[in-house]
Amino acid sequence: MTAGQADALQRLWPKWGLDIDGQRTIDLAELFGNAGPVVLEIGFGMGEATAQMAAEAPEINVLAVDVHTPGQGNLLNLADGNGLSNIRVGNGDAIILLREMLAPDSLDGLRVYFPDPWPKKRHHKRRLIQPEFLTLAASRLKPGAVLHCATDWEPYAEWMLDVLTAHPDFENTQADGGFAPRPAFRPLTRFEGQGLDKGHVVNDLLFRRVQHRDVPSKEQ
Ligand SMILES: C[S@@+](CC[C@H](N)C(=O)[O-])C[C@H]1O[C@@H](n2cnc3c(N)ncnc32)[C@H](O)[C@@H]1O
Repeated sequence: MTAGQADALQRLWPKWGLDIDGQRTIDLAELFGNAGPVVLEIGFGMGEATAQMAAEAPEINVLAVDVHTPGQGNLLNLADGNGLSNIRVGNGDAIILLREMLAPDSLDGLRVYFPDPWPKKRHHKRRLIQPEFLTLAASRLKPGAVLHCATDWEPYAEWMLDVLTAHPDFENTQADGGFAPRPAFRPLTRFEGQGLDKGHVVNDLLFRRVQHRDVPSKEQ
């Protein structure tokens, strides 16, 4: 962690940080100080793309979550330096946040950009995008809200397309049932740049949450 990141954590965490402790349901309007739409980003890394998107759409509240502390400091610094008041930074596991701390139908969107690809077959179960995760995520998304995923690992992209297409709570926004063209609003991320340098192909997926289903219990 750089001195600047450590300093940002110390100065700004009390104002814009969220400890993901699973102990309470968050009032999102209170967290952001307004009742505007809230988009959750899981795994923002160093946060450059997060800050850029927040700057370009100040009417959208961004709840950005990662376990990586230097990245949290970096994103807080970027928000502060660019005068962005629509970012809150969560420290901890996004699954706990979704399951224990977010109310049903509370999110207007979900972004998962370049999640860890876990390329080895025996590690596939660690991938974030799984049917159980999608059931949980869908329950926290408002009907009509969009889940936006991107990956530079083609086998994971195919995996995402398969599990999302098969999931009853989501429908593909693409009429042909395939990957989406890269939306202009998604900036290049740090991890994506590294993938492109290695010749990887990037795929975006945009799926809409379609219907209400039973909300998973806390035990699930
Ligand atoms: C491969 S990096 C991509 C970072 C960034 N989105 C980018 O494109 O540069 C994946 C990130 O997801 C975070 N992550 C993985 N599992 C997570 C979880 N369950 N909750 C929160 N963050 C998670 C990791 O710490 C890491 O920063």
